[in-house]
Amino acid sequence: MARGKPVIVVGITGGIGAYKSCELVRRLQKSGFCVKVVMTEAATRFVTPLTFRTLTGEPVAVSLWADEPHSKVHHISLAEEADVFAIVPCTANVIAKLAQGRADDMLTTTALATEAPLVIAPAMNTHMWRKETTRRNVETLRTRGAVFVEPGTGELACGDVGEGRLADVNAIADAIEVEARRCRDLAGAHVLVTAGGTQEPIDPVRFIGNHSSGKTGFAIAEEAARRGARVSLVTGPVSLPDPFGCEVVRVQTALQMRAAVLARFSSADVAIMTAAVADFRPAAMSAEKIKKTDAPASIGLERNPDILAELGGMDSGAILVGFAAETTDVIANAQGKLAAKHADVIVANDVSDPSMGFGTDHNKVYFVTGAAVDESPVLGKPAIARDLLDRVAALLEAKRG
Ligand code: PMT
Repeated sequence: MARGKPVIVVGITGGIGAYKSCELVRRLQKSGFCVKVVMTEAATRFVTPLTFRTLTGEPVAVSLWADEPHSKVHHISLAEEADVFAIVPCTANVIAKLAQGRADDMLTTTALATEAPLVIAPAMNTHMWRKETTRRNVETLRTRGAVFVEPGTGELACGDVGEGRLADVNAIADAIEVEARRCRDLAGAHVLVTAGGTQEPIDPVRFIGNHSSGKTGFAIAEEAARRGARVSLVTGPVSLPDPFGCEVVRVQTALQMRAAVLARFSSADVAIMTAAVADFRPAAMSAEKIKKTDAPASIGLERNPDILAELGGMDSGAILVGFAAETTDVIANAQGKLAAKHADVIVANDVSDPSMGFGTDHNKVYFVTGAAVDESPVLGKPAIARDLLDRVAALLEAKRG
């Protein structure tokens, strides 16, 4: 089904900057977006819903106890329709609610229900912006993938001078447009992702495994689905729930992961292999639990197939992205893997730092291609997923001409 204009839901909270949202709505409409507005009760003290209703030609959502009849529960339909959810201006109070997952009005309920990317333009008094609690709430939301358009510095409504002014409307609109472009740039592509670590059984209760949590692969799968891709996620045992809108195949061993990947690779446009696949498996699995008294002096190992190298050898035309967990010579080792596995990109991380890589919420990576090595700052894994998929989308576009 052909989709209409991308929908931007603009959430407006109770700050003096609310009047600038009128200009933002206009600018977004001029850029070709369908704009729908949701306001907090406090926001309606600054600008009336009628203003936004007149600007957008759409009903303005304020109360959960809908004053206007809708065919579907309104906060859910808004949440589903949104290609981007932007909160402009966003108060310290609403930032705190979002960080806690609270949903006690129309705006925060819609924000919690949506799968759309969240763009937040905060505006508040300097001291509130700098408070440790606000900093922590902002960081929590950033780690989950929210995009912040930082407030500017200048004279504030309260008379103080400092940080906290709502950012320039054009900068906010630009950030929203970037997210809106992203939300469809993988439409039509089949993206195959591996995640987690494999477990290679020694006996019915023991295995050889590693510390991969699956966070990286799941963040990539979720972001790819949000951007319109058909996503197949093949994951080792992890304790994460299925990401929204993805086919999820849960496996245990490297051999099972290989079978699930090969069964899906022929239709894949992109394969992103974040899984920490065990390179070896016990040569034989004991059918019974091995007793302490019968413990062998050593466990014989067999090599597992290298799934990424196998895909690289097929020359299918799919874009191949591998990951490399390194503790020394990070770049050189990643370059070696790029060549050996015929990958287009290797995303290398230095896992000698325990705060990065396995199990963490943040990571710092190097995007290694035949042409360049790009270093990322320390970012939340959803933000790394977004950066990686920007690169993948550009490669796909170049390939499709
Ligand atoms: O899951 P998280 O807790 O978020 O942790 C993320 C991560 C640290 C697991 C991830 O960032 C990462 O580095 N993944 C790759 C880990 C790894 O084991 O890399 P490798 O150097 O062994 O393998 C290189 C590439 O070949 C990887 O894409 C791997 O999926 C692939 N491979 C490796 C061995 C094998 N038998 N088959 C493979 O396909």
